[in-house]
Formats: sequence, structure tokens, C-alpha cells
Amino acid sequence: MKPELLELFFEIHTDNPREGPGSFESMRKAFSMLQDLPPNPRILEIGCGPGTQTLELARLANGTITAIDTYQPYLDRLTQNAREQGLENRINAQYGDMFDLSFLGEPFDLIWSEGAIYILGFDRGFKAWKNLLKPQGYLAVTEISWLQSNPSTEIQSFWNENYPNMRDIETNREQIRQAGYREIGNFVLPESDWWNYYDSIEAKIVCLKEKYRNDRSSIDLLNSEQREIDLYRKYSSEYSYVFYIAQVA
Ligand SMILES: C[S@@+](CC[C@H](N)C(=O)[O-])C[C@H]1O[C@@H](n2cnc3c(N)ncnc32)[C@H](O)[C@@H]1O
Repeated sequence: MKPELLELFFEIHTDNPREGPGSFESMRKAFSMLQDLPPNPRILEIGCGPGTQTLELARLANGTITAIDTYQPYLDRLTQNAREQGLENRINAQYGDMFDLSFLGEPFDLIWSEGAIYILGFDRGFKAWKNLLKPQGYLAVTEISWLQSNPSTEIQSFWNENYPNMRDIETNREQIRQAGYREIGNFVLPESDWWNYYDSIEAKIVCLKEKYRNDRSSIDLLNSEQREIDLYRKYSSEYSYVFYIAQVA
């Protein structure tokens, strides 16, 4: 992305309740599958964004959460919300780059990451993050995945251009096993989880198109964000985010 468009990108992607599809219902469903989690687990959340999930994780589990991200305004917002909700002793929001997590100390009982493992790569993430987990530690991630073996040409070419590594559920399950995990389960996020995210982005696009109406490259960026949403509306049965829950074997 051109540097002059980064500011607009963050205008679109700041002050939203979440930065990817998801919901508390889906979180609770995934969390309920972690049957052997200790009573006070050490949790690492990677790519926490504005921290909506971090706060919910703190309500679901009694332990401590280290939440990392590379965008400082998200971390500041999470720190402030944790303080306001009396959770500051259990949530530590800190700058951390998922490409080098060697600064983290003791291993974790659970790593949670919604909509962020794609940045490192699904297979690389499962392999690298295993080193941060205790024996029989859990990994719960969401990853955009094909729901059909033969998706429509229009949506296939869009995602081939934007995320060529997107795969189907079976292929991801196989990779999880090959990375040395036992599969606990997986489920497709419902469409409502997508609209929890896209509704706020779409409302922003409308306002920003007015603000930048005379700026061609800004309008192009806004149109491409809108296109992703329009394509989801059309092809929602062909792909989705999927929660994958696994345990170190
Ligand atoms: C799609 S958002 C998901 C955020 C959040 N988990 C959610 O679902 O709302 C991806 C997040 O990864 C963060 N991120 C990007 N590159 C990163 C990196 N190298 N290390 C850690 N976080 C990163 C972004 O700042 C962003 O908050």
C-alpha cells in the first residue's frame, strides 16, 4: 500500500469494535472446547487488535492474558478499557511482533488469535507457536477458509489476488496434525459474525467517500474495501472464517 494511503487505511480500521469477523458467541463456543485448561491459565493473544476479544477472554478465564499487537493505538485502547473494567491486573497489552516472539518468557496454557495467523501464515504459525505452549497447551485461531472445493470464478480470482494462501478446511486440518497437534474441533463462523465487522467498516466507507471525494487514490482504496464486502454478500456460502481449536499432541 502506498505510504500516503496508510493514514486512510487506519482511519477505516480504527475505532471499530473489532477488526475481523467474530462474536462473543463464537468465542464462548471455542472456549468451551478447552476441557483441560487449568483454573488460572496463562494466555497469550496474538494480534489482539482493539482488544474486544481480550476483555471477553478475561471474563471467560480466571488467568492472566498477555495481548500483543504491533499497532500501538489498539494497545492503548485495550489498556484503557482493561483499567476501566477493573481487569488491569490480569491483562497485559504490549507491543509484540508475531514474527519474533522470543521475548516472551514462560510458556502458555493457551494461545488465542482471531483473524491474525494469516499474517505469519497458517502452517508457520502453528509450528512456531507450538514452542510457546506448555505440553498439551491449546491453540485457538480463526482463519478464512474455502467452504467449497470449486468456488465461483469471480470470488476465487479475488482471493487468489488478495490471499493466495487461502485453503479449504480439510487441508488446514491436515496441516494442524502435521504440525504436531491433536485436533479438538473446528466450526464455521456464522454470517452474523461477518456483519459484526463489516457493518462498521461499511458505515465508515460511506462517510470517508464524502470526505475524500476529490482524491482519486483514496476513493480507489475505499472502493476496494467496499468490493470485498460486496463479494462477501454475494458469495458468503463459498468461504468463511473458521475457528480451529487444537492441542499440542
Ligand atoms: C485482522 S486484525 C484482527 C484483530 C483482532 N484479533 C480482531 O479480531 O479484532 C489483525 C491484527 O494483527 C495485527 N498485526 C499485524 N501485523 C502484526 C505482527 N507482525 N505482529 C503482531 N500483530 C500484528 C494488526 O495490527 C491487527 O490488529
